[in-house]
Amino acid sequence: MPTDSPYPEMKKSHTMAHTGRPWRDYKPPPSGPVWAIIQGVGSYWTLAAAIELGVFDAIESLGPTKVGPLADHLSVSGPHLQHVCDSLVTFGFLDQVDDIYELTETAERYLCTDGAASMAALVRVAPGPLANWERLAETVRTGHVAEPIDDDPAAFYGPLVQATFPTQLRAATRLGLRLGWARRPGMRVLDLGAGRAPWAIAILEQSPRSTAVVNDWPDVIGLAAHTVAERGLSDRVEFRAGDFHTIELEAASFDVVVLGHVCRTEGDELARSLVARAFGALKPGGQLLLADYFADHERKQNPFGVQMGLTMLANTKRGGMLTNEQVCGWLRGAGFQTIRLLEPIGFNYVYVASRPEGTVQ
Ligand SMILES: C[S@@+](CC[C@H](N)C(=O)[O-])C[C@H]1O[C@@H](n2cnc3c(N)ncnc32)[C@H](O)[C@@H]1O
Repeated sequence: MPTDSPYPEMKKSHTMAHTGRPWRDYKPPPSGPVWAIIQGVGSYWTLAAAIELGVFDAIESLGPTKVGPLADHLSVSGPHLQHVCDSLVTFGFLDQVDDIYELTETAERYLCTDGAASMAALVRVAPGPLANWERLAETVRTGHVAEPIDDDPAAFYGPLVQATFPTQLRAATRLGLRLGWARRPGMRVLDLGAGRAPWAIAILEQSPRSTAVVNDWPDVIGLAAHTVAERGLSDRVEFRAGDFHTIELEAASFDVVVLGHVCRTEGDELARSLVARAFGALKPGGQLLLADYFADHERKQNPFGVQMGLTMLANTKRGGMLTNEQVCGWLRGAGFQTIRLLEPIGFNYVYVASRPEGTVQ
């Protein structure tokens, strides 16, 4: 049995100092990273509970407050709420001075339901079905997800696309300002796997007289139709329900094709063929917008992209991490040129790639 002590005696021949593994010879590494993961579960559920209870919205309407009035307002147990609020302070979502709690800017923006970039509804949906995480070891053992979200797309994607709409509409709107859609009237747009159609809507709202074909599964496309109608754009949109791998697409007919957060669930082969379909549907000179969360070539510089990939691995049949290298390979392989990677809002990247002029129709 190896023995342990916080400060083991220095080895007699201390050579590792030269080769970069000082912990082994000097003192053990701290256990903090392990605790951070364990307590991450509690942190997640504290945030989920605060949103479910309406803590952020209540503080927004009451203004800076002590726990007593807040607990009365929410009809919850004061001592329990106090502890939740103290935890939210440690996360940086509340400030506390003299037992008065107030929202930080992060909470105002992302955690209030009417926040400018609200993610309040996303918190419960984004990890996917929690049972899939509990079975991750089994998924890794067998290579199969027991209950992939692909089996019942409407059950998962319905709430997801409700929750992601504000963020993706903001990303698309910001992208449009950079790409100058307002100066490009009369475009024909194809939005595949559109969800509530944030990308098509942003283009139509900026580009006069543009029209769009909006696609999603038959059980999901009603959400797009509802949102498009709400924004007064129904007369400029055709809804085309069905599988984006097989629905009919007119060749060389669109100025813009959008693949917004659809590639990461498809696996290499299907995503590659989807990119090739998009190429075929674009007019020469047309642009593909491929938005997703990407990891770096070495899969270690961008933890967000790696973790998002793992969420796909845990919850989908074929999905996983997308690296920039892989996606550039699909784009170049399909024939795209002038490939740019833009970040219209933080963490949201979009490849903008052009079908070259003069390519055979
Ligand atoms: C992560 S959501 C992205 C929604 C939207 N494009 C966005 O960027 O916010 C993925 C969408 O693709 C749709 N989808 C997934 N597989 C599909 C398929 N094979 N055919 C059509 N739609 C599909 C889902 O129903 C869902 O609405």
